[in-house]
Amino acid sequence: MKGVKVADKVYNVGVRDPNLRNFHGYLTPNGSTYNSYLVVDEKITLIDTVHYKFSEQFIQQIKDIIDISKIDYLISNHAELDHSGAIPEIIKINPNIEIITCERGVKALSEHYNTTGWNFKVVKSFEEINIGSKTLRFMEIPMLHWPESMVTYAIEDAILFSNDAFGQHYCSEFTFAEEPGLEIAAREAKSYFANIIYGYAKKLNQLIAQLRQRKIDMIAPSHGLIWKGGESVKHIIDLYDELSSYTNKNTALIVYDSMWGTTKRIAEILEREFKNNGLKVVSHNLQETHISEIMTNMVDAKYVMLGTPNLNSSIMPMMAAFLNYMKGLAPHLKVGFAFGSYGWNPNHIKAVEEVMNALEWQVPVPPYLAKFKMLDEEMVKNAARDIIKS
Ligand code: FEO
Repeated sequence: MKGVKVADKVYNVGVRDPNLRNFHGYLTPNGSTYNSYLVVDEKITLIDTVHYKFSEQFIQQIKDIIDISKIDYLISNHAELDHSGAIPEIIKINPNIEIITCERGVKALSEHYNTTGWNFKVVKSFEEINIGSKTLRFMEIPMLHWPESMVTYAIEDAILFSNDAFGQHYCSEFTFAEEPGLEIAAREAKSYFANIIYGYAKKLNQLIAQLRQRKIDMIAPSHGLIWKGGESVKHIIDLYDELSSYTNKNTALIVYDSMWGTTKRIAEILEREFKNNGLKVVSHNLQETHISEIMTNMVDAKYVMLGTPNLNSSIMPMMAAFLNYMKGLAPHLKVGFAFGSYGWNPNHIKAVEEVMNALEWQVPVPPYLAKFKMLDEEMVKNAARDIIKS
């Protein structure tokens, strides 16, 4: 990938990572990109870097445009290694570069790297720097999704360099969201949101309110496609607004694992009953669908039904993995239901109930458990009806 001009004096000098298949447990079938933006103004400014394993390619791409020793500022919006990884290599070439970040950014970078001799310039929210024809304003967005996260807004161009927010783990030959189509870009952004941002979504309200008050012509994230132009920008801000408000779409999500088919049969009865009551249902067998794909469906679901048989006094391992992953991403405002089967110890289902309680879900109906293969279809149907009525 060569540097790509994305706006006046602004180049994406980031790299593609088409072979990435797992990002912290998130399945990434389309790989990802690490976008970094070089602004060639009177003061040459680099906004974020790339994953350290691509440092050599990254440095060459910058060199194709300018001499690295001429870079004045390096803005670090986020210290996670996929964006800060090449900072040490840049500093080796240009030790005088000023690293612009917030106070928490200095702390986070200093906890990752030996920053002795690094030339930090600490900024606060709404502070601005002028780099020539452009003015850059900073806004801290703590816990979106790390404590030091911030975004940078180029005022004259109305470009938001948003780092992880509004990104997608999507590697393609395209630069802008409208090239593959906004629907594809939004699908990927939704998946990214569900697997990276969801747990911190409440904190998005302030950022979205700020963005709604400003003219934004481009949102340039550090992963995936760039949202360019009014329609694109509106599309992604509206999507984030909807996703972060936890407004579900009155759909039902069933997630289960099964050992000898009983839990699967319960899942099928629940699916039929919810459909018979006019609800859209998505049902996933954990042996067939990756947990991160299920999380994307979780965003729309009002009703979440989780089923597992007992295995060795506990639950099935894929359900344990799913519960752990889901708990971290903290989906709120769900109506939950636990179900499954057992032979002689039904207490395994408490593991499912505990997670639902921790997430403060409404749980209107006690768990339904079949003993071995003895399944009472009417009881399952009644449970489904009571959940819908709740
Ligand atoms: Fe793309 Fe939080 O790193």
